[in-house]
Parts: sequence; structure tokens; C-alpha cells
Amino acid sequence: MASSFLSLLLLTTSALGATTVPSFVAPAPAPTATSPSIYVGASNTTLNKTTVVPGKSFDRFIQIWLENTDFDDAVNSTQFQKYIKQGLLLNSYYAVTHPSVKPNYIASVSGDFFGMHDDAFYSIPNNISTVVDLLDAKNISWASYQENEPSDGYLGFNFTQPNYLNTSAPPYTYYVRKHNPLIIFSSVSSVPARASLIRNFNDFAVDVNAGAYPQWSFITPNLVNDGHDTDVGFISSWLEFWLDPLLADENFNDNRTLILLTFDENENGKINNKVSSILLGGALPANLKGTNDSTYYTHYSTLSTVQLNWGLGTLGRGDANKTMANVFSFVADAAGYKNENITGAAIPLTNFSGTYPGALNANIYIPFIAPNVSAVSPAGQPVFLAPGLNTSLTLANAPAPVNLTAKGEPLPGGVGTPGVGGAPPAATSASGAGAKPTTAGGGGTSGAVGFGRTAASLAAVCVGVVVVGLGMIL
Ligand SMILES: *[C@@H]1O[C@H](CO)[C@@H](O)[C@H](O)[C@H]1NC(C)=O
Ligand SMILES: *[C@@H]1O[C@H](CO)[C@@H](O)[C@H](O)[C@H]1NC(C)=O
Ligand SMILES: *[C@@H]1O[C@H](CO)[C@@H](O)[C@H](O)[C@H]1NC(C)=O
Ligand SMILES: *[C@@H]1O[C@H](CO)[C@@H](O)[C@H](O)[C@H]1NC(C)=O
Ligand SMILES: *[C@@H]1O[C@H](CO)[C@@H](O)[C@H](O)[C@H]1NC(C)=O
Ligand SMILES: *[C@@H]1O[C@H](CO)[C@@H](O)[C@H](O)[C@H]1NC(C)=O
Ligand SMILES: *[C@@H]1O[C@H](CO)[C@@H](O)[C@H](O)[C@H]1NC(C)=O
Ligand SMILES: *[C@@H]1O[C@H](CO)[C@@H](O)[C@H](O)[C@H]1NC(C)=O
Ligand SMILES: *[C@@H]1O[C@H](CO)[C@@H](O)[C@H](O)[C@H]1NC(C)=O
Ligand SMILES: *[C@@H]1O[C@H](CO)[C@@H](O)[C@H](O)[C@H]1NC(C)=O
Ligand SMILES: *[C@@H]1O[C@H](CO)[C@@H](O)[C@H](O)[C@H]1NC(C)=O
Ligand SMILES: *[C@@H]1O[C@H](CO)[C@@H](O)[C@H](O)[C@H]1NC(C)=O
Repeated sequence: MASSFLSLLLLTTSALGATTVPSFVAPAPAPTATSPSIYVGASNTTLNKTTVVPGKSFDRFIQIWLENTDFDDAVNSTQFQKYIKQGLLLNSYYAVTHPSVKPNYIASVSGDFFGMHDDAFYSIPNNISTVVDLLDAKNISWASYQENEPSDGYLGFNFTQPNYLNTSAPPYTYYVRKHNPLIIFSSVSSVPARASLIRNFNDFAVDVNAGAYPQWSFITPNLVNDGHDTDVGFISSWLEFWLDPLLADENFNDNRTLILLTFDENENGKINNKVSSILLGGALPANLKGTNDSTYYTHYSTLSTVQLNWGLGTLGRGDANKTMANVFSFVADAAGYKNENITGAAIPLTNFSGTYPGALNANIYIPFIAPNVSAVSPAGQPVFLAPGLNTSLTLANAPAPVNLTAKGEPLPGGVGTPGVGGAPPAATSASGAGAKPTTAGGGGTSGAVGFGRTAASLAAVCVGVVVVGLGMIL
């Protein structure tokens, strides 16, 4: 398995190297201006100001997710050097799995990736909770901003629109569901008031201008601005256009705001999955600016940190694993919470996926299991239990894993169909023409394609794309 992974990885890397990176084009006049034609969906009912729930170390947490870049590549760039000087470089921050596709995104909001290792259309059932259950329990406002999402709470697989980088090129796919973690959870997408908080960048502009920016937010730039289809130079141009002015905008970054600039995973699958993560914002203590923190962190640290800060409960999954979920040190120290730091060889290798049993892994399928019901959050609060959760279905007493792929059976619980509730307008192309080659199915097994995927829709995915298989870094 490892050797086929590595050889395919080399193939993929050279294929990516041949891709020409286009020149950056600003998608809007300013980050706080709407851009009706490029950001697509009109702004939609500005969020209302709500009572600010004070946290111990910050009142607002903003995370901005970039894509597939090795630690050194980011840290060496001029734009990141600028942020490192005004922020805190987290020098030992790791993604939780690798390679390929988007398990890191769902892990960052739910504490698990349920064995996910491919790019299929997923929808995770109502009994699986996320950070928004914890935030809602304390009336802490939240939203996710997804650039080029065509409408709020959009349920489609992706969205293809005119190519604004090159108007003579074919339409381009800028928005993908797999980078929009909360919409994948039924507990968010099936509740209209929650789905309306999965917003686009026109909404972002009006929410910031209204002084109604929420207390917790997850921001996903589009496929070119986040580096997925481009490189760190393009990311830098976007950050200069978008983040630099916002850092000086009190409606976004005030003296109680903590901003995490991070990457979903690294690019080189042969080394451990360390990513460049930088903490910025007015809530960062002045004495930490321009310094490093080498405590071991992962994407689960974003959950444990907000739990401690706001006295939230836990999800009882990776966020409750003391090793994997150290709280950002300055927040831990302020609250007198003790981290369990690890260094060097003790740091787990998190650069392989597809090997974990889970409800989203057709090769080693087990049902969605309950969280650890006796876990407590770093704030000493109990686990959040979703209505209808079968708390006795734990890993210890789950049925033995089944290889559904070998049996030719689909993953059970087929609860997602591409396009439902938000199919792209007919004028746009679903083939993603103009996009760089991508993978379909992935995971090295054609059976591992997830919920609700019929043979016909799988065939459609394969039209016009290059199937590379295991090792493709998406
Ligand atoms: C904001 O408040 C107004 C008036 O109460 C209400 O009509 C509107 O739906 C609210 N907007 C959102 C996004 O909740
Ligand atoms: C980053 O810079 C360091 C120091 O100049 C250099 O050793 C390293 O090779 C560079 N890495 C990359 C990926 O450019
Ligand atoms: C959250 O708001 C609701 C409705 O305003 C209120 O009933 C509830 O007590 C609040 N919960 C907390 C923890 O403040
Ligand atoms: C506005 O929000 C509603 C749900 O609140 C959604 O159904 C609709 O598609 C949204 N429109 C746009 C343009 O985002
Ligand atoms: C723009 O797209 C056209 C059509 O695909 C292509 O011929 C041209 O080279 C592209 N321009 C740039 C600057 O990439
Ligand atoms: C933080 O900002 C608020 C509102 O602008 C201001 O009143 C307060 O003095 C500031 N605090 C510090 C420590 O700068
Ligand atoms: C912080 O870490 C970076 C990257 O590992 C390193 O280049 C730099 O020298 C460190 N800075 C300090 C102040 O230790
Ligand atoms: C974790 O270990 C690293 C490396 O020794 C050190 O720099 C860092 O301060 C430690 N963090 C904590 C919380 O002890
Ligand atoms: C916590 O994470 C570590 C490192 O991945 C792992 O070895 C350990 O088994 C996990 N603990 C639990 C209780 O899952
Ligand atoms: C969660 O719901 C799914 C789908 O209904 C079901 O298969 C699974 O057993 C449930 N798991 C728990 C722990 O309740
Ligand atoms: C599951 O079955 C597939 C197809 O027969 C096979 O390729 C794969 O290696 C199996 N995986 C495991 C973990 O047994
Ligand atoms: C977009 O989604 C459609 C299915 O709805 C799929 O056929 C196509 O490959 C996807 N394109 C990209 C770039 O993800």
C-alpha cells in the first residue's frame, strides 16, 4: 500500500508541476465590497448584531483555510513572513490525516473524519454533532463564509461559473462542497436557520460592514485563492488583497479577535503532515507577536481552544484526545489549563488516510459510533449528545468492520445526492472545463465512493477528468 501510494504520488506531483498557474485577479473591488457577478449569490439578509458572549482570551475566533502547501513553502514566502512578524507562528501544527481529499475539513468541526478517504458526495447523519451545537448551546453567534458559494446553504457538489481570471477561457469551478465542512453535516444543512449561516462572500461584505460579524467563523476562499488549483504566490496575492485590509478593519479584527491562518494539509505526502499555521489578530498578546510556539497542535486544537475559551462542552471525539487537541498555549495559560505536549518522534504520523475504520470508509466500514460519553472539555464541561444518538454504539462494541467494496455494496445510509436543494443553473457547466485534472472516487477503490452515488453519477464524475487514484493530493 505504501509503495503504490508513493509511486502514484510522484506521478501526481509531476502532473501538478506542469500546470500553469494563472495570474491573480481581484474578485471584488475590496474585501468589504460586494461583487455580484463574481461572488454570484446576492447578499442575503445581513446578520443582526447579537449580544457578545465574552470569552476568557478572545471574543471572536476566525479561521481561514488554505490548501495543500508544505510548511517550508508557506513560511518562506514574503507574505507569510509579514504575518509571522505580526503574529505567532505555530511551529508544530499538524493536519490530522492525509493524503487526498477533505477529511481534515470535517475533522475540524466534528472531531473525527469517520475513515473518509475519498472525494465522494457525503452527507453525515443528524446524530453526529459539530462545534455549532456547542456554540448554539451558549448563544455564541457563528457563520461560515464560502467564496463563490452560489446561494446560502447551497447543497450542490460544486459550482461552475464564468472564468473571471480569463474571460476567454471556458467556465470554471471555483466552489466545491468538500471545502465547506458544516454543510456536509445534516444537523446543519437540514435546519434552515443553520443552513442560512453557510454564506458567501457577498454576505461577508455586508455582515462586516453592518458590524454584525459573528463570534466564530470558518472561511474558505475559492479554489484558486486558497491555492488548491494554484500556488503559494497566488495565495499571497489573494491574502494581500483580502486579509491585509481586513486586519485593519475593526469590524473584522478588533482587540478581542483571534485569527488562525492555516492549511488543510501539506503537499508532500512523504513527510509528516505539518502545516504552516499563524495566529493573528488583536487578541494575541503583544509579547507573542513575531515569536514561535512549538507546542504540538492539530486541527482538533481549534475545537479544544474555543471550548476552553467560552466554557463549551466537548464533542467527545478527537477534540477530547489530550494528545491531539492541545489548547493554544496562551489561551491554556490564561485559564490555568495544562497541555500534554509532545515533540520529535512522539509526534504521530498523520500522513496516511484510508486505513481507519469508519462509516465513510467502504473498505473498513463500521457504523457511525457514539462519542466518548464520559469525556469532558478542557473547560470541564460534558459531552454534547445529539438527539437520537445511540450512546451504547461505541468503538468497543461496534460490529466488526466489513469490506463493503469487496462485497460490491454501497455505504449504507445514502442520504446525499449531488445538486439537491441547489442544483447549478443550466447555463453553467458541471464538467468543470478549465479546471486542472482532478480525481474521482479516489481512495484507490472504485467502490469507495460514498453515500447516494449511483453507477451513473460516478460515470458522470469521470467524464473529462483524469483519474489518478490513491496519492492524488486534492
Ligand atoms: C434580523 O432581524 C430582523 C428583525 O428582527 C429579522 O427579520 C431578520 O430575519 C434577522 N436576520 C437574520 C439573518 O436572522
Ligand atoms: C526555505 O528557506 C530555508 C532557509 O533559507 C531553506 O533552507 C529551505 O530550503 C527553503 N525551503 C523551501 C521549500 O524553499
Ligand atoms: C440563549 O438564548 C435563549 C433565547 O434567547 C435563552 O432562552 C437561553 O437562556 C440562552 N442561553 C444561554 C446559555 O444564554
Ligand atoms: C437566502 O437565504 C435563504 C435561506 O435563508 C436561501 O434559501 C436562499 O437561497 C438565499 N439566497 C441567496 C441568494 O443566497
Ligand atoms: C485564456 O484562455 C484562452 C482560451 O482557453 C487561452 O487560449 C489563453 O491562453 C488564456 N490566456 C491566458 C493569459 O492564460
Ligand atoms: C479595545 O477596544 C475597545 C473598543 O474599541 C476599547 O474601548 C478598549 O480600550 C480597547 N482595549 C485595549 C486594551 O486596547
Ligand atoms: C520560528 O520558526 C521558523 C520556522 O521553523 C524558524 O525559521 C525561525 O527561526 C523561528 N523563529 C524563532 C524566533 O525561533
Ligand atoms: C512543547 O515543546 C516544545 C519543544 O520543546 C516547546 O518549545 C514548547 O514550549 C512546549 N510547549 C508546552 C506547552 O510545554
Ligand atoms: C489519541 O491520539 C493518539 C495519537 O494519534 C493515539 O495514539 C491515541 O490512541 C488516541 N487516544 C484515544 C483515547 O483515542
Ligand atoms: C447514527 O445514525 C446513523 C444513520 O441513521 C446510524 O447508522 C448510526 O448507527 C447512528 N449512530 C449512533 C451512534 O447513534
Ligand atoms: C477491500 O476490498 C477491496 C476490493 O476487493 C480491496 O481492494 C481492498 O484491499 C480491501 N480492503 C481491506 C481493508 O480489506
Ligand atoms: C462538480 O460536480 C459534478 C457532479 O455534480 C461532477 O460531475 C464534477 O466532476 C464536479 N467538478 C469538480 C471540479 O469538482
